[in-house]
Amino acid sequence: MKLTTAGESHGKALIAVIEGLPAHLQLDMEKINADLALRQSGFGRGARQKIERDRAEILTGVRNLETLGSPVTLCIYNKDYANWTACMSDGKCDESVMAQKSLTKVRPGHADLTGVIKYGQTDARNILERASARETAIRVAAGGVYKQYLSALGVEIGGYVKEVCGVKDEREYAFDELAKAKTTELGMLDKEIEELAKCKITELKKNGDTAGGVAEIRVKGLKSGFGSVMTYAEKLDAQLAQGLMSIQAVKGVEVGAGFAVAKKSGKDIHDEIAYENERGFYRTTNRAGGIEGGMSNGEELVLRVAMKPIPTLMKGLKTVEYTTKESAVAASERSDVCAIFALEIIAEAVVAEVLANAVEKRLGGDTMAEVKTRYNLLP
Ligand SMILES: Cc1cc2nc3c(=O)[nH]c(=O)nc-3n(C[C@H](O)[C@H](O)[C@H](O)COP(=O)(O)O)c2cc1C
Repeated sequence: MKLTTAGESHGKALIAVIEGLPAHLQLDMEKINADLALRQSGFGRGARQKIERDRAEILTGVRNLETLGSPVTLCIYNKDYANWTACMSDGKCDESVMAQKSLTKVRPGHADLTGVIKYGQTDARNILERASARETAIRVAAGGVYKQYLSALGVEIGGYVKEVCGVKDEREYAFDELAKAKTTELGMLDKEIEELAKCKITELKKNGDTAGGVAEIRVKGLKSGFGSVMTYAEKLDAQLAQGLMSIQAVKGVEVGAGFAVAKKSGKDIHDEIAYENERGFYRTTNRAGGIEGGMSNGEELVLRVAMKPIPTLMKGLKTVEYTTKESAVAASERSDVCAIFALEIIAEAVVAEVLANAVEKRLGGDTMAEVKTRYNLLP
């Protein structure tokens, strides 16, 4: 299943095309729109979220709420485009508005400088419009389709925010406790820790500074054997890491115990194997995070993503003006202070995309009935 996304942050719309979905996948657009609303929420978000009211529209590939097997096209219109038409339209733009909206005091931590050099631009707006995490809205919409494909097989994805700029929730939670995170302000499960994290964000905002954090994503119900031990490119952990690292601002991915494995000895890390008639083979612990040898092993998948602090600071860092080469203070576009809750939602969508592809690769199927029959036959 191939996913292509397109669209600029302040352009007309964001688009996703998904090729390779089987026929007869029933789609619930309200579930997709609920994820889009969550992606826009979270304590510490910027003014853009007050303008947009993201809703996905289906343009192709679905009839009577069911996929046809043809490419599915999703679209989200940018409401903010109405305020940017003069300098973002595909027709001749207004030169004075273009100059006013141009960005040449390139921002450290952003794609601005490397992008203008690589693509022969002088205005970093031609780079940041695509680098922007606005693109993740359409990935969440596509992820909603993949989530429904997986859900039809009994595979569910959840997650929560574990850490905000050093304020960390050390507790481990059962999968069924995770849903509550979606009803909170910051996606955290411990109310007291969430209050501390909000204070931290408020303090950083006052100082013109920003925050990152860590989100944990979990997957329940995935049977063993997805991914491959035979080819490095098809290893499930490698594909998940690639997908998660492709999200703007993600700088680290952990599977299971993650970096902690390096500090422990073998007996404290490897999960012992047991067998019961009704349950079959299982691990007595899950430090591997549900993946061994590049294949799912039937335990819950446990993944964590680290997000760096938002790179646009209201008290801009030192930089160089691109055209004059003079020292300057980096530009400060309207911006988020912390977007870790949104990142958690985006990461779920990306995990759904990777897993749906792993299922399709192994089971194929032109119809959902075929996919379900083949999945149910697996041990
Ligand atoms: C949900 C989300 C929201 C973001 N919001 C902003 C923002 O408001 N301002 C900003 O400068 N960067 C923001 N970022 C981060 C930038 O998009 C990202 O750091 C930049 O494109 C450079 O890419 P890199 O950090 O992956 O190297 C956001 C990222 C995510 C995932």
